[in-house]
Amino acid sequence: MLFGRTTLSKFVIEQTRGQHSELGALLIDVAAAVKSISALVGKGALSGFSGYAAATNVQGEAQKKIDVLANEAILRHCEWGGQLAGMASEELEAPYRIPDDYPRGRYLLVFDPLDGSSNSDVNVSVGSIFSILARSTAGEAQKADFLRPGLEQVAAGYAIYGPATMLVLTVGSGTHGFTLDRESGNFILTHPDIRVPVETREFAINTSNERFWEPPVQRYVAECKAGRSGIRGADFNMRWIASMVAEVHRILMRGGIFMYPKDHKDPAKPGRLRLLYEANPMAMLIEQAGGAASTGRGRILEVAPEALHQRVPVILGSREEVERLERYHHEYDTGADRPFVSPLFAERSLFRD
Ligand code: AHG
Ligand code: MN
Ligand code: MN
Repeated sequence: MLFGRTTLSKFVIEQTRGQHSELGALLIDVAAAVKSISALVGKGALSGFSGYAAATNVQGEAQKKIDVLANEAILRHCEWGGQLAGMASEELEAPYRIPDDYPRGRYLLVFDPLDGSSNSDVNVSVGSIFSILARSTAGEAQKADFLRPGLEQVAAGYAIYGPATMLVLTVGSGTHGFTLDRESGNFILTHPDIRVPVETREFAINTSNERFWEPPVQRYVAECKAGRSGIRGADFNMRWIASMVAEVHRILMRGGIFMYPKDHKDPAKPGRLRLLYEANPMAMLIEQAGGAASTGRGRILEVAPEALHQRVPVILGSREEVERLERYHHEYDTGADRPFVSPLFAERSLFRD
């Protein structure tokens, strides 16, 4: 019986009562947008929107028709309410200007309308990711208003379109999960106060990039793969879904670590994932659930953005594992992980012939 359970509307109204009621209204519009996207994605090939759109986006990536539609869904659902100063999206080169017909507020909505869209035509989970920042005053947002560190986010979340559609949200006091009841159309609070399990033996990384990783990541993954016979003394499992939402969701549910680290595959890109609308919202959700999120050399939420579509290395999940990776980066940067070679004598080894 679902009557009496906490709906998303009730939750956000309670959490944002008083001075933040505009934030509550905005979150309810975001929820309406992701319900529309869920309905569209859930039709699969029946929607008639499989395959690629004509364009490539600002990042030179081929846009799928569903990327374009999901972007439209969020713009249309959220532009009218008077809470926003502007929006920015993975699919738009410049910030989206709120049309003059609508009032403007002080919040900024930044989003990845469809994450993991390479999976959309193969019926594997995809999602939407969003981050909300606040300006001190209402009015039209300029590009610089969006370039704020993730620590300043007032809310963040994602929707996952899997066997069930879920919305996972933080407004700065814990990470909470809602499941869409498709009959009533309500998001129902099913996972209050999610905590990332501390003990983990599961890692996620695209190992086809192994030769491009930095040595500390190669070291960490080699140790995981060595399992019980190596220094970790335990067998690890590996998963790679290629939808960040699905990986982060799994980590929130059962622990683990997700890495899209710095690599030298393309020297122009210091990582694959985008800071403002992928790394920052996921970092806030993971930290609010007791996990950690790092570039390998510092907290993601402290990175000062320089560009709207800036990329960043991402290592997030169970705290102990993220801290181990930070230590490996530090040992690599200081040379502590390399054997001592005396300038006077050759490297000493018992096994040298
Ligand atoms: P998007 O579909 O929004 O471009 O994001 C895809 C991202 C992320 O979801 C995933 O972790 C990663 O790209 C997958 O990358 P690979 O294709 O290199 O595995
Ligand atoms: Mn994405
Ligand atoms: Mn996307």
